[in-house]
Amino acid sequence: MLNWDDPLANAKPASSTKTSAVAETTENSTPAIESSSTPTANKAPQGLQPVNPDDKRVINGKTDINQLAPFKYPWAWSYFLNANKNHWTPLDVNMTQDIHDYHHKLTAEERHVYENVLSYLTTSDIMAMRNIGLAVMEKMTAPELQIYQARQVYEEALHTWTYQHCIETIGLDQSEIYNRYRVVPEINAKIQLADRRLSSIMRPDIDLTDRDELQNFVMAYIFFAAIFEGCWFYNGFSPIFALQRRGLMKGTAEQLQYIMRDEVMHCSFGIRVVKQIIQEENITLDPKAIREMWDEAEAAEKGYASYILRNPILGYSAEGHLGQFHFIANRRARSLGLEEPFPGAENALPWLDEQANLRKEKNFFETRVTEYQTGGALNWD
Ligand SMILES: [Fe+2]
Ligand SMILES: [Fe+2]
Repeated sequence: MLNWDDPLANAKPASSTKTSAVAETTENSTPAIESSSTPTANKAPQGLQPVNPDDKRVINGKTDINQLAPFKYPWAWSYFLNANKNHWTPLDVNMTQDIHDYHHKLTAEERHVYENVLSYLTTSDIMAMRNIGLAVMEKMTAPELQIYQARQVYEEALHTWTYQHCIETIGLDQSEIYNRYRVVPEINAKIQLADRRLSSIMRPDIDLTDRDELQNFVMAYIFFAAIFEGCWFYNGFSPIFALQRRGLMKGTAEQLQYIMRDEVMHCSFGIRVVKQIIQEENITLDPKAIREMWDEAEAAEKGYASYILRNPILGYSAEGHLGQFHFIANRRARSLGLEEPFPGAENALPWLDEQANLRKEKNFFETRVTEYQTGGALNWD
């Protein structure tokens, strides 16, 4: 089972220990080009020595960004290796029963929930792809960080395909569903808030040696990792999981379980990177600005929950949805080393963490039997 505060916990002994050892060995030994016996190598001019990993920085680094190893951040490489274990396409999941469920079993209230959840998520994932690819990745100055983020860009695109596959398979009106974020105020409020915070760093000319720009970048990254991905995505799937628990829309729910695994990694990685920046750049966060961020996110989530669950459905309510937001927000804050924004919040949906734990033996529905890790089974011949 995943450790939700540290998704790599299970993988650490194998991969990160090994990569750390590699980094340590190399750091303590003479760079290969200097120890070579070839005359050419011995004459390597100053400035063309291999990159010293100690010189790497998350941002504002001055080293050659094209040398992957030795790693300064072996944990980032581990994220990349682990991300590759969660590989699927939306075509792998049987959606036949979902078509029947949507048209013949769901109530009008449940269809309202289903459509709006997909509508919100698909717009959000487009934003996530653009943010990590165009605003964040280009500012990193260590390749091991960029490589995981490159994988993340692909995963966000895969998520967008997944929602599109669901929307098309069910037979929903695509132009209407994809336009909802612009015409439904409660969805629009979340998108607008995210756009305001994320667009502020989507400029290639940002100078991160400027302390104000740096502070803004860190705040935008915290919002992205801890709230946009860590709360809004994580909690965004739960209305569909509530249907799944009642035997409805199981194909869609299985698709979202795969996406949720990616998002847990994205959130965890983002928080790790932010903490590293804070340490390297000696940043002090403004508690007032942090509070404002949580309050804005809560208000937007409250409006969204009130809209999608204006009429509660069996086993799920706006109150439970918001309660879970508070509970997860506290978890993200703890990961960041910040005080809990909603003290005393309880686990309103105790089944949610378990729901994300997609394993063969738990996958008792009649959808195609799939396992989380697929890479080991591949035969390349
Ligand atoms: Fe995503
Ligand atoms: Fe993501």
